[in-house]
Amino acid sequence: MRIVVVSSEAVPFSKTGGLGDVAAALPKGLAQAGHEVTLILPHYPQQFAKLTDAPALTPVSLALRVPVGHKLVDGRVLKGQLPGSNVTVYLIDQPIYFDRKGVYVENEQDYRDNCERFVYFSRAAVEVVRHLNLKPDVIHANDWQTGLVPALVAAELRRQPGLDRVASVFTVHNMAFQGRFWHWDMHLTGLDWKYFNWKQMEFFGHLNLLKTGISFADMVTTVSPTYAREIQTPEYGCGLHGALSSRSSDLVGILNGVDTEIWNPTTDPYIAQQYSVETVESGKAACKAALQKRLGLPVRADVPLFGSVSRMTGQKGFALIGQCADVLLDQDVQLVFLGSGDPHYEGLLKQLAVTHPTKVSTTIGYNEELSHQVEAGCDVFLMPSEFEPCGLNQMYSLIYGTVPIVRAVGGLADSVVDANDHNLAAGAANGFSFHEFRGEVLFWNICRARNLFADKPKWRKLQQTGMKRDWSWKHSAAEYVRIYERAIGKRRVGSECEGEEE
Ligand code: ADP
Ligand code: GLC
Repeated sequence: MRIVVVSSEAVPFSKTGGLGDVAAALPKGLAQAGHEVTLILPHYPQQFAKLTDAPALTPVSLALRVPVGHKLVDGRVLKGQLPGSNVTVYLIDQPIYFDRKGVYVENEQDYRDNCERFVYFSRAAVEVVRHLNLKPDVIHANDWQTGLVPALVAAELRRQPGLDRVASVFTVHNMAFQGRFWHWDMHLTGLDWKYFNWKQMEFFGHLNLLKTGISFADMVTTVSPTYAREIQTPEYGCGLHGALSSRSSDLVGILNGVDTEIWNPTTDPYIAQQYSVETVESGKAACKAALQKRLGLPVRADVPLFGSVSRMTGQKGFALIGQCADVLLDQDVQLVFLGSGDPHYEGLLKQLAVTHPTKVSTTIGYNEELSHQVEAGCDVFLMPSEFEPCGLNQMYSLIYGTVPIVRAVGGLADSVVDANDHNLAAGAANGFSFHEFRGEVLFWNICRARNLFADKPKWRKLQQTGMKRDWSWKHSAAEYVRIYERAIGKRRVGSECEGEEE
């Protein structure tokens, strides 16, 4: 099958969160299964300049001229390869939009022209498909930044000779980010105002690009089966539960996989000692001591070391850490935090490190190497998210024998099996999970983990259960292929995507 994946970020070119991991690892997984895969991304020169091992890029002889509102905006296309794969990457190069310090945000503020930037990118991606004659069976767009792509496929691309059979798939990675803009930005999209209606692109008077993708795609996916159910309810649907429910027969949740070439304790170049499921005990002991030393914590094997690598935002449940910090830090524990985000949570975690220097280490910032060392060196990983579409770090933790404590939502519920008596006896348990979003409940689970940590044989079993499961993209990539096939079968043509008549 010929597949074009369109995303606003993908490693190693750019990454602000899990989307960057997934938009690279899924194409790789699809290519490994024998499909012809092309990835289209924006070119962010300032992110690219940071790469130590940057892939080679060559200009493509295609002069882009893309309509954005009343303007025609030129651009270049660069061609490269996704490292470690035969996935071709096309990068849309337009410095006015993408040569900036941040990807979406600078000084904690969204760029004011984010709508224009990603309308341009979405249109440019469709132009690349057309002019480079890629002839895909399916175009797979991701999140609000490319939400316009399924609309462009339905309303424009399929009207081109020879392209009437292109199908579209849209994946929602997080309902909390919708790309909502004032109604007047509709004119930037270049689409007819007839599509600005409550069933397609309009949401309470605003243009909504996530809703656009959900409405126009032939198939819609999200990143775990539980999240697919959750988002059809008012509690988790962020206002779009109705739009999602109306497409429930075309909405499927597929749990993300892990790029096991990057996240693998047997080959990880960043960690003090590589280890496997057989050598987890000695390997993790060496990694734990190295991490404690690096972060200036007392080097002790007996103390349970809890870690977190995360965007520091409300989504990730840091409020619960705040609620139970006092009682937690009365215990003999160590805590390691790596991340950045909301100044409130950054401040809270920095303060804990100041008041408890022998128990807490907080590193604010983005650090790839340290993130691997935290995954390998900690005993327990904390991920008590308020909501979590999929979550990757709990799966990295499971692969590294670092037992996760999670709240049972979204992909966390689909990957972590609680260490209750029944699951322990069945040999299925791989972590701790709880439901109620309360600090005491998190604390109680931390105590459960600490108690089991003291029981070495049981702890070893918990670690090994997580490590032995196949977390790679193999199964999930195959599921995506089945979705692509369904999308091809469903492809709506002509008047079916004409929109609501006024
Ligand atoms: P989300 O996309 O909601 O932030 P995920 O768990 O899906 O959550 O993915 C987060 C990704 O970003 C993981 O690969 C994680 O390791 C990485 N990450 C987050 N914060 C940092 C950081 N400060 N340093 C290094 N990696 C980070
Ligand atoms: C989003 C979600 C996260 C998910 C990631 C990749 O950022 O918050 O849960 O793992 O996308 O799909």
